[in-house]
Amino acid sequence: MVTTRPTGWKVRVAGWADREAVAGLRRAWTEEYAGRPVDDDGFQERFDEWLEREQDQRVTWLGFVEGDPVAMLNLLVVTRMPRPGQERPNRWGYLANVFVRPEHRGGGLGSRLLATCTTYADEQAFARVVLSPSERSVPLYTRGGFEPATSLMVRPGPA
Ligand SMILES: CC(C)(COP(=O)(O)OP(=O)(O)OC[C@H]1O[C@@H](n2cnc3c(N)ncnc32)[C@H](O)[C@@H]1OP(=O)(O)O)[C@@H](O)C(=O)NCCC(=O)NCCS
Repeated sequence: MVTTRPTGWKVRVAGWADREAVAGLRRAWTEEYAGRPVDDDGFQERFDEWLEREQDQRVTWLGFVEGDPVAMLNLLVVTRMPRPGQERPNRWGYLANVFVRPEHRGGGLGSRLLATCTTYADEQAFARVVLSPSERSVPLYTRGGFEPATSLMVRPGPA
């Protein structure tokens, strides 16, 4: 489904043909954090290999402004082990890789992507959507219907 807003945003699901756009946003995010360009000639190839392996269990949305891909969000779909007597798949999602290019932040595009994803999860009757927020992004997710988890445990890896 494609949604357009008066601001000119367009949000749609990304496909294989969008892999350079998604990889470009991943690079932009990495370089923003690094504060400098990151040389890595093999990145697109590794990204494509990863996407080929992962694409059947992930949904990625792209946000466009005037045709340019400026934002993304990714949902990893986990399908639980089937149970006897339960015909429909039981699924939940891990939401990650939410990124809006800095010049387009603060206008609601991140919220728009989030709402598109949670609407999809509701339509698919996901049991839950889980994420690990940065401190700064907590208000964004709270407005999107997320609440602190009380039923999950985490075991951090070795430092
Ligand atoms: C998080 C992010 C996608 C939000 O996009 P956006 O289009 O600005 O989102 P909206 O305009 O709909 O909502 C703004 C909210 O985003 C959050 N936000 C703003 N700047 C942020 C930042 N640098 N990092 C993380 N979240 C941020 C805040 O909760 C803000 O709401 P508030 O000002 O009321 O606290 C965008 O800031 C971003 O790409 N940040 C860098 C990547 C990142 O931190 N991703 C999330 C990791 S959990």
